[in-house]
Amino acid sequence: MACGEYGEGKMTEPNEIIKEILSYFNNKSKNNKLKALVTAGPTREYIDPVRFITNKSSGKQGYAIARSFRDNGFETTLISGETNLSPINGVKFISVKTAEEMFKETLNNLPVDVAVFSAAVADYKIKNFNDEKIKKVENLNLILEKNIDIISHVSKHNELRPKLTIGFAAETNNLYENSLKKLEEKNCDWIIANDVSNKEIGFDSDDNEVSIFYKDNSNEKLNKMNKSLIASEIVKRVITKLN
Ligand code: PMT
Repeated sequence: MACGEYGEGKMTEPNEIIKEILSYFNNKSKNNKLKALVTAGPTREYIDPVRFITNKSSGKQGYAIARSFRDNGFETTLISGETNLSPINGVKFISVKTAEEMFKETLNNLPVDVAVFSAAVADYKIKNFNDEKIKKVENLNLILEKNIDIISHVSKHNELRPKLTIGFAAETNNLYENSLKKLEEKNCDWIIANDVSNKEIGFDSDDNEVSIFYKDNSNEKLNKMNKSLIASEIVKRVITKLN
C-alpha cells in the first residue's frame, strides 16, 4: 500500500468495477432532467433573540437523501435547519432557522419532480416573541401557536405539488396507524416512518430503520442500516416511480 503496509490483498474483479462505473454514469445521465428538493434538520422557534425551542434532529438522514439524489444525477436542492453538517458539493444548499423560513424557501425552490420532507419542523412557534432578551422572572409563560404545515401546504396546492411528495413520520408509538393517518391528512404519495423512541435509529443516530407506506395501501419495511443506505434505497424507489 502507499502507506508502506504490505501483505496479501484482494480487489474486486476489473469487470465488476467497470460495470459499476458504467451504471453510475448511465444513472447520472438518465436522471439529469429531474429535480429534487429535500428538507432536513431541525427548525428553531425563537422565544427571544437568544433563546429558542428546537429538537434533536441532526440532519443526517436528510443530507444522505440529498447526496443520493445528486449521485443519481438529480438537480438537487437541500433546505436545512441548523446542523453540524457541511453543505454537499453539487447540491444547492439553503440554510434556514425557523419553520417560516423553511416554508418560504421551499416555495421559492418549486417546482420539482420529487420532494422529500425529512426535516423535523416544529409544530408550534412562540406567539409572544420578545424583541429583547427576557429578564429572569419567577414564572415565565409562553404561548405557542401552530406553525404552517409545509408538506400539507405543498401537497394540497396542485400548482405547487411535485409529482412525488414524500413525507417522514417520527413516531414513538402506534407507528402503523399514525403513519397511515399522516399519509392521508398530509396528502402525501409516500410516508416514511421511523420509531424515534429507539436510540439506535431515528434522531441523531448513524443508522435508521424505516417502513414506507404507499398511497395504494401497500407498505414495506427497510431493516436497520446506515442512513446513507436507507437513502439509496429510497432514491432507487423514486427513480423507478418517476421513470
Ligand atoms: O435528522 P436525523 O437526526 O438524521 O433524524 C432523522 C429524522 C428522525 C428527523 C427523520 O427521519 C424524520 O423522521 N423526519 C420527520 C420528523 C418530523 O417532524 O416528523 P412529524 O411526524 O412530526 O412530521 C410529519 C411530516 O410533516 C414530516 O415530513 C415533516 O417534515 C412534515 N412537517 C411537519 C410539521 C410542519 N409544520 N411542517 C411539515 O412539513
